[in-house]
Amino acid sequence: MYAEKVLSGMRPTGRMHLGHYHGVLKNWIRLQQEYPCLFFVADWHALTTNYDETASIAESGWEMIVDWLAAGVDPSQATLFIQSRVPEHAELHLMLSMMTPLGWLERVPTYKDQMEKLAHKDLATYGFLGYPLLQAADILIYRADKVPVGEDQVPHIEFTREVARRFNHLYGREPGFEDKAKLAVKKLGSKRAKLYGELRTRFQERGEEDALEQAHALLDEAQSLSHGDRERLFGYLEGSGKMILVEPEALLTEAARMPGLDGQKMSKSYGNTISLREDAGSVTKKISTMQTDPQRVRRSDPGDPAKCPVWQLHVIYSSDEVRQWVQKGCKSAGIGCLECKQPLIAAVLKEQEPMHERAQIYLDDPQLVRNIIADGCEKARKLAQETMRDVREAMGLDYT
Ligand code: TRP
Ligand code: SF4
Repeated sequence: MYAEKVLSGMRPTGRMHLGHYHGVLKNWIRLQQEYPCLFFVADWHALTTNYDETASIAESGWEMIVDWLAAGVDPSQATLFIQSRVPEHAELHLMLSMMTPLGWLERVPTYKDQMEKLAHKDLATYGFLGYPLLQAADILIYRADKVPVGEDQVPHIEFTREVARRFNHLYGREPGFEDKAKLAVKKLGSKRAKLYGELRTRFQERGEEDALEQAHALLDEAQSLSHGDRERLFGYLEGSGKMILVEPEALLTEAARMPGLDGQKMSKSYGNTISLREDAGSVTKKISTMQTDPQRVRRSDPGDPAKCPVWQLHVIYSSDEVRQWVQKGCKSAGIGCLECKQPLIAAVLKEQEPMHERAQIYLDDPQLVRNIIADGCEKARKLAQETMRDVREAMGLDYT
């Protein structure tokens, strides 16, 4: 009924590193070719934990956007915007907050986790508790059905689905829905109507998901239905209401665990990163001085790639052939560590080359970035306003 749409957001963390590239951005770049995509800077989310240091949020946002563009996120394919420039997110968040049970928020696993992890901060705030609901509003306001996220965020998507379901249940009922739906079924024509009825029963009584899918396909094909009737028949399949907000699904990115320079996960807080646009000299130096298998003290000592963080980077960057060369050369002390690192340095520099080139365009003319975002915010707002119109109408707050 609603076109497939991908949405994802990132907190404004400033410069991106290769972990962001391999873990998130590469995936976005693939998705932008397959679906309409919306990618945004979640600056209000930064406030939920960093309300006491807001001065750098905007600057970090711009830096992050330049890195998205450098990585190959393409503004002619995806819509890029900043959350706080689309204030409709806040309006939906407020409306949803009225019907969201406190218990649901308290039970979101990241709530207690984060609170403990960030114990030095006072996070006993209203905004921090409501943060998953703000995320839900981010998603639901675009009726996005696909949300690429890491594993830690999956409970937030599940929570979003529950909120959407509750909203549709509370406000998706129009007077006389049942009768109107039955009339709409008749309009399908007797053959289709019968099949629709059977599929609906199979789904409702036995929970057969493929029956639901078939029924969706049947409705997609039924050309002559009015928009209203089509909506009703979609709603009637799953319950007794209209689907105003769309339940999203998490697109779990198989976590390419990008190792940092020390073999731990690459992360700014570990200080083991290579930034997306790090200059060649610094990349060379960082990799050249990387820790290797501690047992391999002298050049003549054989080593074990399994105990070496350099090997983990080869897993990401090197061909089978190079990897075999590493395995053999390392275990037999046939190659030295510095030698082993050369193809890696070359691979990272090669990966970064087009990023430097793309970034240069935006560094030369920062107004370009401003324009891309202004454009994206405008597009996002249009979509958000459409949903808000339906939401207000469903709640009876449209004052027409
Ligand atoms: N909560 C996400 C994070 O911390 C960022 C985010 C905010 C997000 N709103 C979103 C991600 C909506 C996906 C969809 O990483
Ligand atoms: Fe690590 Fe390569 Fe040295 Fe072996 S040869 S210890 S894999 S850097």
